[in-house]
Amino acid sequence: MEYRRLGKSGLKLSELSLGSWVTFGNQVDGKDALDLMALAYDAGINFFDNAEIYEQGRSEVVMGEALRKLGWSRDTYLLSSKVFRGGEKPTQNGLSRKHVFDACHAALRRLQVDYLDLYFCHRPDVDTPIEETVRAMHDLVAQGKVMYWGTSEWSAQQLTEAWAVAKELRITPPQMEQPQYNLFERQKVEADYAPLYDLMGLGTTIWSPLKGGVLTGKYNDGIPADSRMTLPGYEWLKAQWDSEEGRRQIDKVRALSALADEVGMPVHHLAILWCLANPRVSSVLLGASRPAQLADNLKALESRDKLTPEVIARIEAIVDNAPAPPPRY
Ligand SMILES: NC(=O)c1ccc[n+]([C@@H]2O[C@H](COP(=O)([O-])OP(=O)(O)OC[C@H]3O[C@@H](n4cnc5c(N)ncnc54)[C@H](OP(=O)(O)O)[C@@H]3O)[C@@H](O)[C@H]2O)c1
Repeated sequence: MEYRRLGKSGLKLSELSLGSWVTFGNQVDGKDALDLMALAYDAGINFFDNAEIYEQGRSEVVMGEALRKLGWSRDTYLLSSKVFRGGEKPTQNGLSRKHVFDACHAALRRLQVDYLDLYFCHRPDVDTPIEETVRAMHDLVAQGKVMYWGTSEWSAQQLTEAWAVAKELRITPPQMEQPQYNLFERQKVEADYAPLYDLMGLGTTIWSPLKGGVLTGKYNDGIPADSRMTLPGYEWLKAQWDSEEGRRQIDKVRALSALADEVGMPVHHLAILWCLANPRVSSVLLGASRPAQLADNLKALESRDKLTPEVIARIEAIVDNAPAPPPRY
């Protein structure tokens, strides 16, 4: 395992990390959650990702219980949460000062820790002035409840505004983004945020490196019975797969699988290594519904040398979706 700086900050994240969306508190509970985290930690993973919305807080409860039992020293791992959707009532959502504070305190209680290392604004909130959110995040940092704050799926414009407001007020600016990034989703990481890496020192903890499992090839011939797409509440994933774009992607997964085979690794290892090949990625957030998947995905690192520039060029020819670089004036 190698470690990368979170943008230009001094924080070092493992290049692979473990997230809990869909899995913790749903497919994975108690002992399985503990086993997954122990496997990750023993392999050198030091960052564990969460959010208030994941299984309506239950994901954080399961992770917190596992952390308590594992008893790792708090200075050896990084923990995140995200604020935006916490419940049904108007005060339980968005990025108002009130909800940002309430959600942080609730996450600390569920995770059974004194502070969060990374705290994300899970989506932009057009109903809250950016200054209110930036000040709330800064205050949590000043209180020692959050170490670094950032955003998830904000536009480059929104991120730049937040950064500029923080600079103007001389308070803590956002340090990281959590965007989707994989062989089918490249626009934000490769194009939109390009000017921000130097300007802000932005780091990225990217999600769905396997496009939720599509890039394992398991959906090439239908939907396996025990997969994410069969879960109640995730019918929208099945609808994506069962669309024209979904079918185009499966064709590309087939071509990528043939290439991976030729190179000597499974296609999901190729997909993970391709994300890691981008130096703007601080950490690749893996998901796993069982320990065997995580053990398998960790093995991708053993094939690092096989992702040569020639192989990357052949991948590019297959996916054929490189975003245009942002204009320079
Ligand atoms: N900020 C955001 O808005 C946002 C959004 C989404 C995710 N995230 C974060 O990113 C993390 C990772 O996202 P993700 O879970 O979508 O990542 P992913 O790696 O693209 O998908 C993980 C899923 O793919 C399947 N899978 C993984 N490895 C496999 C293998 N070797 N063989 C077969 N199937 C395998 C498993 O699902 P099944 O076994 O159930 O099929 C697993 O849960 C999340 O946990 C969360 O922390 C953040």
